[in-house]
Amino acid sequence: MRSILEAPYITELVRTCSAMYAQGWDERNGGNISILLDEADLKGYLDVTKVLRRIPVGFKEPSLKGRYFLVTGTGKYFRNIEVDPAASLGIFRIADDAEAAELLWGYTDGGSFTSELPAHLMSHAARLSVDPDNRVVMHCHPDNLLAMTYVHDLDERAFTRTLWQMETECIMVFPEGINVLPWMPCGTNEIGEATADKMKTARLVVWAQHGIYSAGKDLDETFGLIETVEKAARIYMMTANLKIRQTLTDADLHQMEERFGIRAREGYLD
Ligand code: 13P
Ligand code: ZN
Repeated sequence: MRSILEAPYITELVRTCSAMYAQGWDERNGGNISILLDEADLKGYLDVTKVLRRIPVGFKEPSLKGRYFLVTGTGKYFRNIEVDPAASLGIFRIADDAEAAELLWGYTDGGSFTSELPAHLMSHAARLSVDPDNRVVMHCHPDNLLAMTYVHDLDERAFTRTLWQMETECIMVFPEGINVLPWMPCGTNEIGEATADKMKTARLVVWAQHGIYSAGKDLDETFGLIETVEKAARIYMMTANLKIRQTLTDADLHQMEERFGIRAREGYLD
């Protein structure tokens, strides 16, 4: 058996957690990531018949029975994940009754998966129903996006249009727009269900006064979506109190659609 610490999904995840911390998106233990793995990914690294612990998940997502996930641990400081990946991360399989995680590796200090597991697993199920290649769900607390949820209308069309206007490439990166949830208590099945519902129509979901969720086929895509949104939110916060002399018009954004063969979310451009 090879050391799982050398597996590409672990090294990539550790590198991504450190990059997210460096961006300032993950103060303290803020943020969490989950990656869907195939049994074949674990071959040569883990004996998948050896279940270390059974951890109840507190909800049922039958479509994920038997699926494998690599998930950040609850309370783990993103700054420190690179120092001790085995305590900070875990790999588990969803049990046949869909009510528990069968831990195969990690959480070595007796810890557990993120408190946001409902939002992660329910979002995986929702994204897989519209995109079978979806593998990653990422959550964090980017400053400017958070600030924007205090001062901007939370209407999804209005929020999306403002972000698209802040940087030319936004509409190419997230043509489906960004969905927005009003503030709700975090870590609950209710916010998990609400997030998953929003994930059926976009890869990005804002949690007002809290942060953002992003979903995609790999860590680069999910990181890049948040990076792009956060940059646009930064431009918005830099200019919101200034006199705007020009912006990207709907005609400009239609030109982007034509030039790059993308389709903006129906009804979001005039
Ligand atoms: P966890 O430490 O449980 O992952 O929670 C962090 C967080 O961002 C909650 O929304
Ligand atoms: Zn959070």
